[in-house]
Amino acid sequence: MTQIILAIESSCDETACAIVKDGKEILSNVVSSQINIHKLYGGVVPEVASRIHVENISCVICEAIEKANITMDDVDAIAFTQGPGLIGSLHVGVQAAKTISWLYNKPMIPLHHIMGHIYANNFICDMQFPLLALVVSGGHTEIVYMKDEFSFDIIGTTQDDAIGEAYDKVARVLGLGYPGGPAIDKLAKEGKKHYDLPLPKVDTLYDFSFSGLKSAVLQLIQKEEKKGNEINKADVAYAFQEVALKSLISKLMKAVENYDVKQVLLAGGVAANSRLREIITEKMKEYPNILLTIPPLWCCTDNAAMIGAAANVAIKYLKTYDLSLSAMPSKEMG
Ligand code: KG4
Ligand code: ZN
Repeated sequence: MTQIILAIESSCDETACAIVKDGKEILSNVVSSQINIHKLYGGVVPEVASRIHVENISCVICEAIEKANITMDDVDAIAFTQGPGLIGSLHVGVQAAKTISWLYNKPMIPLHHIMGHIYANNFICDMQFPLLALVVSGGHTEIVYMKDEFSFDIIGTTQDDAIGEAYDKVARVLGLGYPGGPAIDKLAKEGKKHYDLPLPKVDTLYDFSFSGLKSAVLQLIQKEEKKGNEINKADVAYAFQEVALKSLISKLMKAVENYDVKQVLLAGGVAANSRLREIITEKMKEYPNILLTIPPLWCCTDNAAMIGAAANVAIKYLKTYDLSLSAMPSKEMG
């Protein structure tokens, strides 16, 4: 039976609504980005983000319905990001979802934001289990083992900063503005091997650490400035990116060796990184029997279509009419 999901995403600084049919066909996908406003402050200001969500959410939802050329009668369920994320931002999406659910008597599907990033890969092809997902975003750096379509075993995670957070912080130190990931990605292409940065050391097999690397960049800049040397920003971006991605990929490849999987996928905003896409594609050539999927650029960063894709699976497990649901800024996967 056809399943039409109205999906809402408002966990950080994008107000988004999408209409997704059967988890694959995107009837509409509206994203209202606040980046230009947060750019002025050098990062996301939570209070500002939630106010803008309040201003935009109704228009974004109406536009998604209009563009999909459907009515609320056609919608089977309302999916939304329940967490993790900024509390004030999440509240706006959760409240909108509950209101629509109550008004039209539609079930809700409360989702973990990262599930959205993972199931975005369904837009490329059917996911094959068991699989390993490398989740790389502004808030998460994880290796997730999925035995089947709705089980999430986090086998590795960051002990401090998320990789996207490290990109953003290093970009700020280099004066590249917000968001830092795309800026470093671009600038690193003009850089060369010049500066040495230490590879993060983490004793556990699949865990990560990025805060030491971030501090090492800061120290490198201060040292060069003290010596009166002009910093080559492109070379710093290059050095940071090579070391960060090396530590990321080496952990993932250990997991690929040790777990018997049919698919490896990328998920999250940092999956848009051109160098990461290049390295992982190269490395996975050693495993021709494992399918590698990388989401298209448009659905690496936050959007609601990915929430619709996740909901198509999650509806079997999480469907609810419970209007006492609320935002969960530290929600855990599962
Ligand atoms: O998934 P996302 O949109 O939001 C979260 O769930 O956090 O990810 C945002 C993160 C930011 O840290 C941003 O700098 C990073 O993804 N990012 C990138 C690139 N595009 C976005 N990092 C590296 N290279 C990129 N091209
Ligand atoms: Zn995200």
